[in-house]
Amino acid sequence: MPISNYWDDVSSGASASDPKIYVVQTTARIIQRCILLATDPGDLVLDPTCGSGTTAFVAEQWGRRWITIDTSRVALALARARIMGARYPWYLLADSREGQVKEGEVTRVVPADTPTYCRIRQGFVYRRVPRIGLKSIANNAEIDTIWESYQVKLEPLRQAINAALGTDWQEWEIPRELTDAQAKTPVRPERVEGLPFSASVEEQKDGASTGSARTVEGLHAAWWQQRIARQREIDASIAAKADTEYLYDQPYEDKSRVRVAGPFTVESLSPHRVPAMDVDDSLFDELEAAEGRRQAGAAAESVDFTAMVLDNLKRSGVQQAHKADRLVFSSLKPWPGRFICAEGAVRQASEGDSDTLSDSPTRRAAILIGPEYGTVARADLTAAAREAMEAGFDLLIAASFNFDAHASEFDRMGALTVLQARINPDLHMPDLANTGAGNLFTVFGEPDIQVHDEGDGCISIEVAGIDMYKGGEIVASDADDIAVWFIDTDYNYESFFVRHAYFPGANDPYKALKTTLKAEIDADAWESLKRTRSRPFPKPKDGRVAVKVINHLGDEVMKVVGV
Ligand SMILES: C[S@@+](CC[C@H](N)C(=O)[O-])C[C@H]1O[C@@H](n2cnc3c(N)ncnc32)[C@H](O)[C@@H]1O
Repeated sequence: MPISNYWDDVSSGASASDPKIYVVQTTARIIQRCILLATDPGDLVLDPTCGSGTTAFVAEQWGRRWITIDTSRVALALARARIMGARYPWYLLADSREGQVKEGEVTRVVPADTPTYCRIRQGFVYRRVPRIGLKSIANNAEIDTIWESYQVKLEPLRQAINAALGTDWQEWEIPRELTDAQAKTPVRPERVEGLPFSASVEEQKDGASTGSARTVEGLHAAWWQQRIARQREIDASIAAKADTEYLYDQPYEDKSRVRVAGPFTVESLSPHRVPAMDVDDSLFDELEAAEGRRQAGAAAESVDFTAMVLDNLKRSGVQQAHKADRLVFSSLKPWPGRFICAEGAVRQASEGDSDTLSDSPTRRAAILIGPEYGTVARADLTAAAREAMEAGFDLLIAASFNFDAHASEFDRMGALTVLQARINPDLHMPDLANTGAGNLFTVFGEPDIQVHDEGDGCISIEVAGIDMYKGGEIVASDADDIAVWFIDTDYNYESFFVRHAYFPGANDPYKALKTTLKAEIDADAWESLKRTRSRPFPKPKDGRVAVKVINHLGDEVMKVVGV
């Protein structure tokens, strides 16, 4: 069958209101159509592969709740900024006083005055159109009544015209225009007498100049006037009796109101889960995987996870927190350790000089591969670092999807530098990973945090920047690298609850919002969101504060501080 529902009107690319921020971004209009087709306000929309967050953005606009998921932190970072940075239209809620008034105005009835609760479930007030079908015309008895009421006026006029002109015009034969001779043909007064409309025709004709009921011209004009009036009344009756159709994509909008995203949370795979312990306190699950014994699955085609990671590590190197810095391998070969599975010769490369690595020294790196499904704990790092030191390595590179929160503070053991390289989940998608284009292994340093005593039992937290690993050295970078940082001012070791949020980074994703909201916002409050030193807050009774810092690449690191 030919495809007949091809949506060729929605594919227009990025626009000013829908700028392209992600390489595989979907056009908002497509998602909007799907959401409007399939859901009502208040429904829950799930997009398990959200990318730049188009679904969440459209759902937020149309009053749908949403949950959205991605494996890529870059995607989540983009989605978060997009949803938060947008300004949304305010649609009139059916369940509100102004909605009742609008509904009354649209349907020409007295507005309802039942109590309103602003429940979005009740929908918006929509524009609507009559839906006229043959059935609604055939079943409309009022049309006959209207017809009859006009017939008594039209029929004598027709007869008078025919009598004057000596014609036998049926209703459908009466021409729209008369010839001059026909128009000027006089009508005998007794034919006009008693016709109820002659006076009104004369008035309309603006004096005697263009004729009157005493010529055919006047009768003809009167006939057409009645004929058109009859049609209008029939049309109005059809429209009034027909069903109406709501235009669900055209709610009435209150342009004087501003709306921003409602509150939402971003949950990332828990970096602080409790590791599985064996009887002798070893981490059986994790160690098994750390040693590379764990396989991707029982399927015949399953690849050796460790081999795949090493292969990609060799090809793409390790991206450090600055976009320009990268560690590259000149060799990488298996190493028969208990924790360490490979040894590599590694050098620091900066953007643009990948061909001229000559002056950066080559260092001997030990490689620890974390579990395919799980987290590297501090104990794993310590054990691997000890092994690396004993074997005289300069550097330990631990590559894992996730690190325990407490592992993040572990960056060296004696002279040995420990680098925690997060594996981008894209590595689970072989097609993507094989291009070698993405930042598959990223090192993101530790936040440099200070706690200030603000008196009265209050403290504040300051993030001075992120300590980053550059050529094996720890270098402090400033707050411009921080896209966003959060504080859980009373961390319970289980879930990170964002109680403070700050956006100090160099590129301000909320600039556009700030511009559109400039009349509405409190400039001082806005400015306070850009800080690197938090507002004071009471010291938590359990003495634990957690700080989560996210950079522009979407990498996040969390640090727990005792206060
Ligand atoms: C085509 S993009 C989605 C684009 C999105 N509709 C938008 O407008 O930006 C597909 C997304 O799925 C994500 N993805 C791939 N495999 C995934 C998985 N197993 N679970 C969750 N997300 C995944 C990718 O990271 C990518 O961002």
